[in-house]
Amino acid sequence: MPTREEEMASIQRKQLKNEASWKALQDFYDKNGSKMNMLQMFEADQNRFKKFSVQINAKDGDFLLDFSKNLITEEVMSLLFKLAKERKVEEMRDGMFTGEKINFTEGRAVLHIALRNRSNTPILVNGKDVMPDVNGVLKHMREFTDSVRMGEWKGYSGKNITDVVNIGIGGSDLGPLMVTEALRKFQSGPNAHFVSNIDGTHLAETLKKLNPETTLFIIASKTFTTQETITNANSAKKWFLESSKNEAAIAKHFVALSTNGPKCKEFGIDENNMFEFWDWVGGRYSLWSAIGLSIALFIGMDAFEDLLAGGHFMDQHFCTAPLNENIPVILALLGVWYVNFYNAETHTLLPYDQYLHRFAAYFQQGDMESNGKYITRSGQKVDYKTGPVIWGEPGTNGQHAFYQLIHQGTRLIPCDFLMPVETHNPVQNGLHHEILTANFLAQTEALMKGKTKDEAREELSKSGLSQSDLEHILPHKVFEGNRPSNSILFQKLTPFTLGMLIAMYEHKIFVQGTIWDINSYDQWGVELGKQLAKVIQPELRGRDPVSSHDSSTNGLINYIKAHK
Ligand code: F6P
Repeated sequence: MPTREEEMASIQRKQLKNEASWKALQDFYDKNGSKMNMLQMFEADQNRFKKFSVQINAKDGDFLLDFSKNLITEEVMSLLFKLAKERKVEEMRDGMFTGEKINFTEGRAVLHIALRNRSNTPILVNGKDVMPDVNGVLKHMREFTDSVRMGEWKGYSGKNITDVVNIGIGGSDLGPLMVTEALRKFQSGPNAHFVSNIDGTHLAETLKKLNPETTLFIIASKTFTTQETITNANSAKKWFLESSKNEAAIAKHFVALSTNGPKCKEFGIDENNMFEFWDWVGGRYSLWSAIGLSIALFIGMDAFEDLLAGGHFMDQHFCTAPLNENIPVILALLGVWYVNFYNAETHTLLPYDQYLHRFAAYFQQGDMESNGKYITRSGQKVDYKTGPVIWGEPGTNGQHAFYQLIHQGTRLIPCDFLMPVETHNPVQNGLHHEILTANFLAQTEALMKGKTKDEAREELSKSGLSQSDLEHILPHKVFEGNRPSNSILFQKLTPFTLGMLIAMYEHKIFVQGTIWDINSYDQWGVELGKQLAKVIQPELRGRDPVSSHDSSTNGLINYIKAHK
């Protein structure tokens, strides 16, 4: 029997553009791409919604993906599913779920799915089941969060902890920040604050609201070497010691989430207050690990485990649903269709739920740090586009800001609308939510249908304009429409459902990385800037001008020095 590693190595694929399905998609696009008209396709097929939507039943209610408002036909979809087959998406997925070192540039497995493996089936890394360690840390998190939340854990002066400050950046910040905001309705523990930026303003503005006697600092850093986090942590420690005046009190107010035990100790953190995770957890996939401690303090461990269960539910869907009913696969393939054939540069995430106001920011790292790469797994430069720019804001705010460009700009911008059927806050007997829902529906309809010249003319003629004024304004009032969107509906934003949503996009990113043949799990692209900053930092000291860089960088450094 071949080992998994041998099996993985035997996953042979052609260069992307040589795949038969890719060539067929290109051919289809060349012949029909610019002629595809969604409105006509809806008119011609009463079953379009049924054909191009998937509904799954989950713990906290049904979950629907409607992808019928896309520039697709059954032929396009079947070619895209064929592409997924040819790119061996299922084999690669199985490799990830069984602990293969698919992050080969760092020699690591990619097992965030193990952190939420509520079925507790063994998952092996180097022949060792990781589940006992995962469960051990979850137990430690439960004991600790229970004792803080129940007031058994006291600060140095005997008071309960009222505020928690997570100090971390990137994956050690964005996930817990996004989730605590999203699950604000479920808060049952201390307030959660987040300090990430090295800009001292972030720490100063956060600390000025806090009392050191009742504040717990969580130092969240996978490596425990990230300059921003360690600098912020040291400054927080200084602030704390100014008031406690007792080094021994640090143990009551500082805990660490890291893979780097020795560095945590060096910082002065008690070994019992270290929450471990492992190198097979990528930073931007780490909210499911000990990095989620601030979430667990905020909503309680039961609700945190519900979030994990939602992620696990989506994992099972991803692993078992056939490709043509597989939500992350469908989202990924549609993205490939737009990025690689329609040349879409960006993709929006538009949650119609204020609680999800950091969702797009979270997936800016999730998607762009994963798929913002141009070297294939075999070391060649790609000859096609890879990950798009991800952006977005909650509706309806975005409608009054950037939707103009989505409706009438010159770019094709595929949009994902995310919408809860029910709100947590039915203000005015649900009037607000009714308006919100109507706006979500109207936007997807408007993007698809647009407004023809005749419709615009009829509207304008009713307003009593003179004929010449009407003709003058008319072109500005026309909407071409035919702009694609997905609608993702869930019952209500709960920990479980949020877990599903996050895992859904994680797997979308995985599928796209697999199709594009890139390693979605390293992030070498962030290193160069870090290295250069280390060189520049000492040069900022003193008054002597610097001449070792290009003239722009020298000029900027010298300007700052002269103006300090
Ligand atoms: O920006 C690069 C990065 O390595 C991210 O991938 C990571 O999430 C972040 O820095 C923080 O890293 P750490 O958790 O090691 O402090």
